[in-house]
Amino acid sequence: MGGMEFADVVRRRKMVRNYTDEPVDPAVVDRALDNAVRAPSAGFSQGWGFLVLDTPDEVRRYWAATADDLDQPDEWLAGMMRAPVVIVPCSSKAAYLGRYAEPDKGWTDRDEARWPVPFWHMDAAMASLLILQTAVDEGLGACFFGIPPEKVPAARAEFAIPETFDPVGSITLGHPATTPGAQGSPTRRRRKDLDEVVHRGNWRATD
Ligand SMILES: Cc1cc2nc3c(=O)[nH]c(=O)nc-3n(C[C@H](O)[C@H](O)[C@H](O)COP(=O)(O)O)c2cc1C
Repeated sequence: MGGMEFADVVRRRKMVRNYTDEPVDPAVVDRALDNAVRAPSAGFSQGWGFLVLDTPDEVRRYWAATADDLDQPDEWLAGMMRAPVVIVPCSSKAAYLGRYAEPDKGWTDRDEARWPVPFWHMDAAMASLLILQTAVDEGLGACFFGIPPEKVPAARAEFAIPETFDPVGSITLGHPATTPGAQGSPTRRRRKDLDEVVHRGNWRATD
């Protein structure tokens, strides 16, 4: 039940796009969700919601709603469809506008210009990373991926996601297959060096 060194969890995490059909212990899904809600959230709004699909029928309906060519899946889809669990993290902009209009925040005009970036999506993303890291800690694999925009309405309808929540993506969770499946971008591009992305003191170019 987990307990890996934090540094190992961070370094071993990578997106897994090919799974065996071995079921996932429901207790692991519960731990992932327990960890997810430990994420920080702006104003402690917690304006997130997690649609959990963990039966074969629910997972099949997820892919039927969001993917084409279920009968002839490409390598990516074939590997991803085998994951026995799909979690759809959602964010509620309305929850943040409401929370920040409360007396201790006082942004009663609900002016969207007050938001430096969409904190509702940020918070769902932070929670999503904790789900990905829990998978690693439990010896499982996970992949965060986007839902094609044109498929969002179908996913919404299929699983009764309310209009006040928007899926920020989806996460597959399962036992990694021994073969990698579809190759991710890290096979085609390198991780940037720290000195390319860290700007100490100012952003002046050093080269
Ligand atoms: C916001 C976001 C969206 C992503 N969307 C997809 C996706 O649609 N399909 C996919 O296979 N991977 C997706 N990824 C995974 C990235 O390709 C992956 O994180 C990146 O290549 C680095 O590899 P690693 O996570 O395995 O270290 C996404 C990752 C993030 C953070």
